[in-house]
Amino acid sequence: PPLPEPGSSWIKGNEPFLCLNISQDCTICMEPLGGPSGYKGPGVGPVSRAESVGRLAQCGHQYHFQCLVAMYNNGNKDGSLQCPTCKTIYGVKTGNQPAGKMEYHVIPHSLPGHPDCKTIRIIYNIPPGIQGPEHPNPGKPFTARGFPRHCYLPDSEKGRKVLRLLLVAWDRRLIFSVGTSSTTGESDTVIWNEVHHKTEFGSNLTGHGFPDPGHLDNVLEELRAQGITEDDALME
Ligand code: APR
Ligand code: ZN
Repeated sequence: PPLPEPGSSWIKGNEPFLCLNISQDCTICMEPLGGPSGYKGPGVGPVSRAESVGRLAQCGHQYHFQCLVAMYNNGNKDGSLQCPTCKTIYGVKTGNQPAGKMEYHVIPHSLPGHPDCKTIRIIYNIPPGIQGPEHPNPGKPFTARGFPRHCYLPDSEKGRKVLRLLLVAWDRRLIFSVGTSSTTGESDTVIWNEVHHKTEFGSNLTGHGFPDPGHLDNVLEELRAQGITEDDALME
């Protein structure tokens, strides 16, 4: 979908809306907000004047409207916009995770660092396939290595909260992506997205195991950066 019009619930300010604080720069193009957008690419001319400034409704950060449109059009155009300054998300962010399955169950063992509870095991399974228009090389095959991938969370109150939010992230296609693996260097393959998982159960040889006291808070922060908070888990 296209970016909602200026004056919508996301972006305040309408034609003509010129920035009064001419000493401030647009941090998308680095040109002053009092002058024209520095964006020279195609496709935004008719939408607005080069001088038009939009103010994001919730966080209040301001950019050239043409810069916001260009940023949106250069992304995956999923109907969401993320403020490049403070990361506030407008709309619902979704990813390009290929089709697959997410399952989980409780296993009767404790993780190092979580002696008082059992363990949630999540099993992700994604088969190889053909890339869609949302992927880096549409029409080309992608591989899927190391599946099923097993991941672990403590079966504590906070661990269960993380699980609920991971289920939302899965539905929004944000757990995996298609790209180049930084571990193997292979391109056109399924890779972890921006939410860290623990794939090692009884030890921590890879750095992706337990104990790791900050892990659950880190994951909650990474989920927040994807626009997923406890409110989402309550709604779905
Ligand atoms: N377990 C969990 N997360 C990992 C692992 C791992 N073994 N290896 C890397 N990551 C994290 C990285 O820290 C990074 O943040 O995943 C992110 C993406 O790294 P890539 O190497 O690009 O991802 P990918 O190729 O999907 O993963 C490499 O993870 O689960 C295993 O079987 C998988 O061996 C593969 C490895
Ligand atoms: Zn700009």
